[in-house]
This record gives sequence, C-alpha cells and structure tokens, in this order.
Amino acid sequence: MGQFKVLDHPLIQHKLNYIRDKNTGTKEFREIVNEISTLMAYEVSRDMPLKDVTIETPIATTVKKQLSGKKVAIVPILRAGLGMVDGVLSLIPAAKVGHIGMYRDEDTLKPVEYFVKLPADIDQRQIFVVDPMLATGGSAIMAFDALKKRGAKNFKFMCLVAAPEGVKALQDKHPDVDIYAAALDEKLNEDGYIIPGLGDAGDRLFGTK
Ligand code: PRP
Ligand code: URA
Repeated sequence: MGQFKVLDHPLIQHKLNYIRDKNTGTKEFREIVNEISTLMAYEVSRDMPLKDVTIETPIATTVKKQLSGKKVAIVPILRAGLGMVDGVLSLIPAAKVGHIGMYRDEDTLKPVEYFVKLPADIDQRQIFVVDPMLATGGSAIMAFDALKKRGAKNFKFMCLVAAPEGVKALQDKHPDVDIYAAALDEKLNEDGYIIPGLGDAGDRLFGTK
C-alpha cells in the first residue's frame, strides 16, 4: 500500500489558511498555491535517487552524492493542477510537464477526461501528479488510469486539501500511489465539496465565477 502523508510543516499550515479564506483574491491565491507547492515538493522529493560523484574542492578530492539524474515529469490535472506546476518546477527545473485535462460533471460528480498529453518517455519517468483537491477521488483515479495505460509506473500524488473519502477511494483503486497532502479535512458535503476546504480551486485560481 502506498503511503498517505500530511505535510503539516508550520509554514504550510500557515499559508494554507490564507487560501482557505474566502476573502483571499485570485492574485494572492495563485501566489500562495505556488509557495505551498514548492514547500511540498521539498518533502515529496526526499527519496529521489542519488549517485556517487567525485568532486575536487580547493583542498581535497572527495566522493559525495548528487541526484542520479532520473528523469522527472510533473503532471497537473487541469485546470487547477496548473497552479502547482511552477512551485514544483522551481525546485526541479529540468522536469518535463505533461497535462491531463479532466472536469467533474456537476450532477454526477464523475470526472470527464478531455485531454491527455504526456512526455513520450513517460514510462521512464518519476512522475509527480499535482491537483490541489482530492475530493471524491474520481479525478485522481482517472488520471492514474490514464497514466498507467501509457506505461507509467513510478508516481506520487500531491494535493493541497484531501477529503478522507478521496484518500480511501484512491488508495483502493491505486494502492501503489503515494499520496501527499497539505491537509486532511473533515468530509465532503452533499455537492461533493470538501468541508471546510477552500471552495472551487479552479475558479479561485483563475478568477472564473
Ligand atoms: C477539481 C479539482 C480536482 C477535482 C477533485 O477540478 O481540481 O481535479 O475537482 O474532485 P474529485 O476528487 O471529486 O474528482 P474540477 O472538476 O472543478 O475542474 P477544474 O479544475 O477545471 O475547475
Ligand atoms: N473540487 C474543488 O475544487 N473543490 C472541492 O472542494 C471539491 C472538488
């Protein structure tokens, strides 16, 4: 079973409160999503593979560790996942970016896939799938279905706010996925929104609605 981890660093908890606040506007919302994503990426990349390298310092020759160069792909689930991409790229600037387009049907709450464009060698990459919200889990489940269909094997899921229902659904369907969240909230309301959550992440990020 993949792990589920809440990254509750004090800076993350503090910043998350700003984007939960309904009075926070689009510009600030975007900036803070970006900052939290960077903080999360630091933790999520903790087990990236290293290799030995020889370095000549001005004083001596030494053998130290550096990233082994395993290729990384960041895959946002559109639209709201886009808000997390730059924050992760700021720590892993050479990563490639794939996109999975999906929206939730407002009546059924089931995800509808409308776009998938991934790096050609996605099966070779360490993948970070990013989406601020894990609610029913339907979108994340369908995103991992799409990735696995294309040969992806090595992945983690990063979200800002998770609902227990979504964590369980994703773990049941994709037990090999490690899930990282900035917060685990209480539950879903009857419209499938996370309580207390932060509202509709896509609308708040892009100023629609
Ligand atoms: C939001 C969010 C997730 C999804 C989560 O996207 O960004 O992708 O809902 O809900 P689920 O876990 O119940 O599937 P939305 O469908 O609102 O699309 P948008 O990002 O384009 O606004
Ligand atoms: N999608 C969102 O953007 N917010 C929620 O609370 C649930 C799904």
